[in-house]
Amino acid sequence: MTANDPKQTTGGATQGSRPLRFFVGITGGSGHAYVERLVVELLQAGCEVDLSITDAGCKVLRHELGVEAGLKGEKLSASLAAWLTPMGISSAQLDRVRVFASDAIEAPAASGTSLTGGVIIAPCSMGTLARVTSGFSSNLVERAADVALKEGRRLVLMPRETPLSEIHLENMLRAVRLGAIILPCMPGFYHGPKTIDDLVVHVVGKVLDRIGVEQNVGARWNGLAEPEGDPGTEPQTWGES
Ligand SMILES: Cc1cc2nc3c(=O)[nH]c(=O)nc-3n(C[C@H](O)[C@H](O)[C@H](O)COP(=O)(O)O)c2cc1C
Repeated sequence: MTANDPKQTTGGATQGSRPLRFFVGITGGSGHAYVERLVVELLQAGCEVDLSITDAGCKVLRHELGVEAGLKGEKLSASLAAWLTPMGISSAQLDRVRVFASDAIEAPAASGTSLTGGVIIAPCSMGTLARVTSGFSSNLVERAADVALKEGRRLVLMPRETPLSEIHLENMLRAVRLGAIILPCMPGFYHGPKTIDDLVVHVVGKVLDRIGVEQNVGARWNGLAEPEGDPGTEPQTWGES
């Protein structure tokens, strides 16, 4: 199934022949490299993206990626081309991104009548996690998540914090019980990463798998290499002097 598959259903919402639209929320958690790559992959897959950022997210985006989003995300739209064009995104693909300020509670994603393929919060701060699990919609990112939960649509939260307190863990458990997917910014190392990008795409590939977007960026595990000979019958020499 691809993101453009007209037959694809999204938690009960069919988008006909239109490209699938996802709401991507950015928060003040660290790890904005993940959302950068996620947005690129969604656009490369032919999806439409609604993008919003929290006020704290604006500060972290500036700090981690040097992208200016203003105080409430009001400058993010103007920064989009300079941000994503070097990542290989064309102007036609940029046209498929709608950017909303943190306080744009009039945005389509604030209403359940607006169909989306799902909501992804990447990265998800512990603050946003707590507010989402409490139904406390203080900005558009939290409201979009609130709508996804009430409409039974996909909600992927990508928490980033370490170590985790009991409150954080309880909130994650609560989120899963409410129907959200907790997909931490927690890359594996078994695929032999050589670069930061290798680590980032490992996690982003898992997100794309969970939201039903065809992807080939994340490594797929094919098992361990067969050891030479049969280890069960080989004489064991280790431990001998
Ligand atoms: C550089 C930087 C990195 C941060 N990283 C994290 C993080 O990884 N996880 C987290 O929960 N909060 C992190 N914070 C703190 C949040 O930004 C802060 O709690 C904020 O109030 C979250 O607001 P939001 O949920 O509305 O985005 C970070 C803050 C800064 C400035």
